[in-house]
Amino acid sequence: MPVTPVQEDVINRLMASMTWEQKLAQLQIAFRPRLEDAAELVRSGIGAVFWPRSVEATNELQRIAREETQHGIPLLVGLDVIHGQRTTFPVPLAQAASFDPSTAETDARVTAQEAASGGVNWTFSPMIDVSRDPRWGRVVEGFGEDTYVNGVFGAAKVRGYQGSSLRDRDSILACAKHFVAYGQAEGGRDYNTVDVSTQRLRNIYLEPFRSAVDAGVATVMAAFNTVSGRPAHANQQLLTEILKNELGFAGAVVGDADGVVNLLDHGIAGDLQDALRQSFAAGLDIEMGGNVVADHGDARLGHDDLPLERVNDAVRRVLGLKVALGLFDDPFREPEYEVKSPTDTSRRAALKAAEKALVLLKNESVLPFGLGPKRILLLGPYANSTDHLGAWVQSFAEPAGSLADAIRRECPEWVLTVREATGFFGGEPDLIAQAVGDAHDYDAVVVAVGEPSALTGEASSRSDLRLPGVQEELIQAVAATGSTFAVVMFNGRPLVTSAWIDGAPSVLEAWHLGLEGPQAVARALSGVVNPGGKLPMTFPRSSSQVPIYYDHENTGRPARVSGTLDGGAVDVALMGPGNTDDHYTSKYKDLDLGPQFPFGHGLSYTSFEYGEPRLSAPEVLLSDLEGGQTVGVEIDVSNTGSRSGDEVTMVFIRDLVASLAQPVRRLRRFTRTSLKPGETRTLSFELGWNDFGFWDNDARYVVEEGAFEIHVGGGLDAAAVRSLHLRL
Ligand code: NOJ
Repeated sequence: MPVTPVQEDVINRLMASMTWEQKLAQLQIAFRPRLEDAAELVRSGIGAVFWPRSVEATNELQRIAREETQHGIPLLVGLDVIHGQRTTFPVPLAQAASFDPSTAETDARVTAQEAASGGVNWTFSPMIDVSRDPRWGRVVEGFGEDTYVNGVFGAAKVRGYQGSSLRDRDSILACAKHFVAYGQAEGGRDYNTVDVSTQRLRNIYLEPFRSAVDAGVATVMAAFNTVSGRPAHANQQLLTEILKNELGFAGAVVGDADGVVNLLDHGIAGDLQDALRQSFAAGLDIEMGGNVVADHGDARLGHDDLPLERVNDAVRRVLGLKVALGLFDDPFREPEYEVKSPTDTSRRAALKAAEKALVLLKNESVLPFGLGPKRILLLGPYANSTDHLGAWVQSFAEPAGSLADAIRRECPEWVLTVREATGFFGGEPDLIAQAVGDAHDYDAVVVAVGEPSALTGEASSRSDLRLPGVQEELIQAVAATGSTFAVVMFNGRPLVTSAWIDGAPSVLEAWHLGLEGPQAVARALSGVVNPGGKLPMTFPRSSSQVPIYYDHENTGRPARVSGTLDGGAVDVALMGPGNTDDHYTSKYKDLDLGPQFPFGHGLSYTSFEYGEPRLSAPEVLLSDLEGGQTVGVEIDVSNTGSRSGDEVTMVFIRDLVASLAQPVRRLRRFTRTSLKPGETRTLSFELGWNDFGFWDNDARYVVEEGAFEIHVGGGLDAAAVRSLHLRL
């Protein structure tokens, strides 16, 4: 972290008087120790602890650090505060669906205020691991499949957590994680191997970290996985050469929980000492686990293991954080000001975030139902479930209510009948038949289904992306009654819906939206809220289609919907209806082309139309672009329906001919606009040098001359294409 001369002085004086052991003790965080053990560890000089779950306990540990250790160095106090401390916001994947980064910034600000009031000064968030594999349970913690979206939302989170100054009493250190490419774990299996080309590493996975570093992120966490054979924890090229030297990251690199110890199982280190030596030599600054100093206080690393300069560099980085936070002046927090429950303001912010994250996947004139009197049958395991907070919820967070209760509150004129019909798992056909038997007697049926949050998050990969249990059968049974119905899905990853989607007239994607999620859904069902989010991740047709993502390369043999069949060589019966392409093209014989719902998909209760896009110039000189000139893109968007609504507008580019195969689209900008009926707005975007180039396999950023397409509109099907020439 950048430090002032006075702060530098504090650090210099400490450095001059600390022993080797005392320095090493600063370079570790004890992983969730018991309180008595934590106190002992602090006495022995440990630099950081996990939050001991109360402001009083935190103050006591800080007191021990200040008064009972030789140098009185205060503690970093870390906690995974991912999308809320007391007031839980939507899971990050859902926040990304809002395509409104202020959602993430507000979440982080509220979260920082709540956490800091209890003594937390460091969160392990944001997670900005781009991932194209919904089998990976951790997609719920990140911002989806797009590199640019992860960068923008990651930076917003960093700003929210760290505030305008780290010295402010409600600011906490952010931690961008997991460095790097963790989202490409083979097979979507958590902790699995990652093997990645230089161009892909840089174009896809590294860029969000560049954004986080540019936003001033104070810490970065190393990933559990290997990257092309070398675990990130012991990867000098990644941690030192790229992150610190190239991106200019001046904060501290922390390991993941026992990530250093895991080097033994990776088969990279022969013993713990070797693992520690390799990690710190590679550029790690803080080990998570508390293994650097053994229980009896001896450092596990001697002078022969690590150069003094490396240890000094790591210690300076850690002390720099403590100084920046103002901990040397006052590490304590007043118990009377600890925020222990949500306030009206934080609840309102959480509700707004939840409403913005809703995505209307499908709507054949069923929704909204209106607030007027009607009889509604609410079915499914999410009718009464209160499992809305999502993965990484704090055990002490304010609990959410159920959808049934929220509907009763938000839609008081509805006469509601509630039947779960089945749990998330198991389930009996007879009970389903009984539950839907009189569905026709209602004005409408709502089927609330989903994936419980325990199936998402760390170590929660799934091989089958369908709704668990017999929930698909429940939807099919409702469809068979011919009743008017809408499905509401609560989930933390893209799900496969192909078994029932065609029979469901309306589907609302409601993720795990946090404390106010059920209220947001009730308000969307009635129409008080008009959903305006879009998918930050592709929904596949089948689990076997994964990975499937929008910014893929074209391949030499792209499959097109309107092709010709290759003279009888293809068994048409095996192919889906959209799959009428040439035989020798890139596709599956037994699946329709394309995903079920693409990245950027999302409907509204109103309709939007776009005008012709305008470019500031049809061509630009590369030298001017490099010198800072930008290309302006303008488009008019109108609300042509009869309700107010939000539209997300996206700007994609395509580099038509390049020295490396380029994605068919790359998102470069997006914005969310609220429009009243009949209202038109002109939207303007600027694209520059950083938008048109790519990283090659020699780790060089290149912008090549030639033709580009610029697509502007409401999603991937943006009809508006303009060509731009970059000239030498
Ligand atoms: C393991 C997870 O990978 C990481 O994201 C988290 O911050 C640490 N555990 C600490 O809980």
